[in-house]
Amino acid sequence: MPSLLLPGLKECQRCHLYQGATQVVPGDGTVLSSIVFVGEGPGREEDEQGKPFVGRAGQLLNKILADIGVQRQRIYITNTVKCRPPNNRTPFPKELEACSYWLDKELNLIRPKVVVALGSTAFSYFGGRNITRCRGQQIRIKDFILIPTFHPAYLLRNRRSAIYYKVVADILRAFKIIGDVAYDC
Ligand code: URA
Repeated sequence: MPSLLLPGLKECQRCHLYQGATQVVPGDGTVLSSIVFVGEGPGREEDEQGKPFVGRAGQLLNKILADIGVQRQRIYITNTVKCRPPNNRTPFPKELEACSYWLDKELNLIRPKVVVALGSTAFSYFGGRNITRCRGQQIRIKDFILIPTFHPAYLLRNRRSAIYYKVVADILRAFKIIGDVAYDC
C-alpha cells in the first residue's frame, strides 16, 4: 500500500519536542484511504519503533478494527504531534500549533472523507471541546466529516465494556460513511 513520507518531516525542529524524542513518528498506512485516524502523540513504543499506535493502545485499536472486519493496513493513522512528549504528557498548545503544519499537509494530500479523532487532544485540534458530549457525532469540517471518539488508551484505563462498545459503534459508523466495511462470513 502506498505510504507517505513527507519531505523534511524526519528532520523537523518546528518545536522543541524533537529534543527529547528518539525519532520523529510519521503517519502510517495507505494514502489511498478515505478514512484517517488521528491520535494524540507517540508513546514510548512508538518513539522506539518510529511507527504510530504500535503499543498497547494501538493493539487495542487493531482489535477494534479486526472486530469490525477492517485490516489496519487499509487505513491511514497519524498523530497531532509527531514527536513523543516527555513522560507522555499532553502536548502543549504551541506544540500542537507547530506540528499542525504536518497534519494539515497529510490531510490536504490524502483528502479523506472521514476523520476519526481519537481522544480529546485530537478533537481539540479540529476545534472540538467536549469529547464526552460530542463523541460519535458526525461533524462537517471543510471537505470531510469528523467523528470524535474516546482514545483507546482511555479504554485501557477504563475497562467498562459499555464504553468499549461505544467506541466500536463510533468507528463502525465512520466506516459505514465511506461504505467500506468488510464481512468475513
Ligand atoms: N497514543 C497516541 O495518541 N498515538 C500513538 O501513536 C500511540 C498512542
